[in-house]
Amino acid sequence: MMKLKHLATATFCLMVAFGCSSEKRPIYKDASADIEARVNDLVNRMTLEEKILQLNQYVLGVNTVENNFGEMVKDIPVEIGSLIYFNDHAEVRNAMQKKAMEESRLGIPILFGHDVIHGYRTTYPIPLALACSWNPELVRQASEVAAQEAYDCGVNWTFSPMVDVSRDPRWGRVMECFGEDPYTNAVFCKAVVKGYQGDDMSEKNRIAACLKHYVGYGASEAGRDYVPTEISDQTLWDTYLPPFEAGVKAGAATLMSAFHTISGIPASANHYILTEVLKEKWQHDGFVVSDWGAVEQLRYQGMAEDEKEATMLAFNAGIEMDMADRMYQKYLAELLEEGKVDMKLVDESVRRILRVKFRLGLFEHPYVEEKPESEMYLLPKSLEIAEKAAAESMVLLKNENSVLPLENVGTIAVIGPVASDSTQHLGNWGARARAEDVIGIVQGMCEEYAGKSKILTAKGCDFEGNDKSGFAEAVRVAKASDVVVVCLGHKGSWSGENQSRSTIEIPKIQEELLSAVEATGKPVVVLVTTGRPVELPRIEQKADAILQTWHSGVRAGKAIAGLLSGRYNPSGKLAMTFPYSTGQIPVYYNRRHRARTGDQGLYKDITSEPMYPFAYGLSYSTFEYGKLTVSSDKLKEGETIYAEVTVKNTSQRDGLETVHWFVKDPYSHITRPVKELKYFEKKLIKAGENVTFRFEINPLRDLGFVNREGKKYLDKGEYRIMVGDQSVSIYVI
Ligand code: GLC
Repeated sequence: MMKLKHLATATFCLMVAFGCSSEKRPIYKDASADIEARVNDLVNRMTLEEKILQLNQYVLGVNTVENNFGEMVKDIPVEIGSLIYFNDHAEVRNAMQKKAMEESRLGIPILFGHDVIHGYRTTYPIPLALACSWNPELVRQASEVAAQEAYDCGVNWTFSPMVDVSRDPRWGRVMECFGEDPYTNAVFCKAVVKGYQGDDMSEKNRIAACLKHYVGYGASEAGRDYVPTEISDQTLWDTYLPPFEAGVKAGAATLMSAFHTISGIPASANHYILTEVLKEKWQHDGFVVSDWGAVEQLRYQGMAEDEKEATMLAFNAGIEMDMADRMYQKYLAELLEEGKVDMKLVDESVRRILRVKFRLGLFEHPYVEEKPESEMYLLPKSLEIAEKAAAESMVLLKNENSVLPLENVGTIAVIGPVASDSTQHLGNWGARARAEDVIGIVQGMCEEYAGKSKILTAKGCDFEGNDKSGFAEAVRVAKASDVVVVCLGHKGSWSGENQSRSTIEIPKIQEELLSAVEATGKPVVVLVTTGRPVELPRIEQKADAILQTWHSGVRAGKAIAGLLSGRYNPSGKLAMTFPYSTGQIPVYYNRRHRARTGDQGLYKDITSEPMYPFAYGLSYSTFEYGKLTVSSDKLKEGETIYAEVTVKNTSQRDGLETVHWFVKDPYSHITRPVKELKYFEKKLIKAGENVTFRFEINPLRDLGFVNREGKKYLDKGEYRIMVGDQSVSIYVI
């Protein structure tokens, strides 16, 4: 008898162990089942409370992001949909995930998110700098590393890429976007999404992307944060939506709704963009998370009388997940009872969130392996990418009499507040960045010129203030050198969220330091380390060379030294215009025509031309563009033609050159910008050699335009294909 009992017990244990218990294994737990079947099976099993908790995101860990303070949340419900994860080790995250998997009724994994904007621990150049590399493949690689490091810490979702087209460098968040042009933002958006998500998000080291801030945040009035925007439907479609459409088509799993009001309707209560465009027109099947507190903020924007109405408006507009303010948890059940939100919409919202979790494979691998830092961060290949990305993102703005590269120089002085500082190169939104990981300028120069040149250094002054006590030492060091490198700029914290500035000047004390050093008569190379375009006319007058180094991450100093020594040949070109002065803002290349010609409509006190235009950047090589040709000057919709230009490297030095292809529709029933970027390509051209660049023109895609409903159309008539100062007319017949 005993034997039989043991046998029965053993059999039962085996059945349970191999899931052969009498109760059939639920479909949602069956990894081989179709994801939609798993989603529907799970939603049908959930209680209302479980559904509502899936629509909420709390924070885990003490949030140190200045604008979004959050305490270590202790009372986290195990059924919570998502957590913003502010720690940098996996065990806390795994412990929380274990509670969700084992203590909740259905074992739905939590989605852990974080702002991984330009690297996780291996910090890359800020996105605005990366855009100046015109190297989407390199940016994809950098994004892939960011995903691997974030994944290794248990982050499965990043709130990036930010693709808010912006033309106002007073706005601190220009650092996070890919510049002033819709096409540029669209190309880099796709590269970043691919880097994060790969082809299958369930693979190891893949994280879900989040396109933000949907939509038009870059149009914030006067460059200030959280303020209204005035965006016509026409401009919404031709300027601000294209990068998001590209990201959705590239498979981005999520989007984040923005804080601002769009011509009277807050983005986070905007049914048109959140549902009619995103879900109905673009068929996006992932989900939208609100920005931090954007739901409850609808009260401040004059849209909602109270929190409950704010909840109703945001939810019914099409925001599936509520970040940090817990409005959905507080009010959705009540709103359902009152018939102000529909249970169908709750179910659909939960489906969208679960779909992303299934696609990430979170049900199959809810935990992340806890590895030593040495196996996760700052890996050799990751650092190589960091240096290459920095070198290709920096832009040579001036190089009078070829003062650069610095070769066979006896003594080089490296002076200024950025010279020995490493923190600033990290920029803002640095995720888990650490200053000790950075190779700054002085260290980079000492390594680069070891055994070749003597490096002297002096700080000279702080980033701001009136203390000139360091000037004398700086002048002394300058006099004792053959060339002076003056390292000026903004702190990393001076750009980013809630960092609008009324002027884009570099603080006066720094300009005065430059004047004092320049007065020594030594050749002067100025390095500009900022997170935004800045005012350079006065600096330009005192510099023989200017290198815009941006905030370029952990290998900024290596890249800078490599560029100054000629180990790298500068190839960066501006993805955002540098205004001549703050008073010119907004100034950008793809503006529409003015009504008058000549000097009518231009400033009377300053030039109306920018200091450095979009796509401007110098190289140590010299490139000669051959004649621009087209395979045919006539084409119909559905046909393709191509334009070509051959570029010769007339120097003795191999160089990377980016050709930017613009189109212009001189006359159209909806007026077009004076020119629009529609393609770009970067290639190596060896010294003395020729390389041909080709632009395959798809008329509707490349020559067409959109109307205020977002409908693409192609007018017949003349178009111009433009490269450099050349332009060739073609005709759609
Ligand atoms: C912030 C930002 C957003 C960020 C979020 C989470 O307020 O606007 O870009 O992803 O909160 O930190």
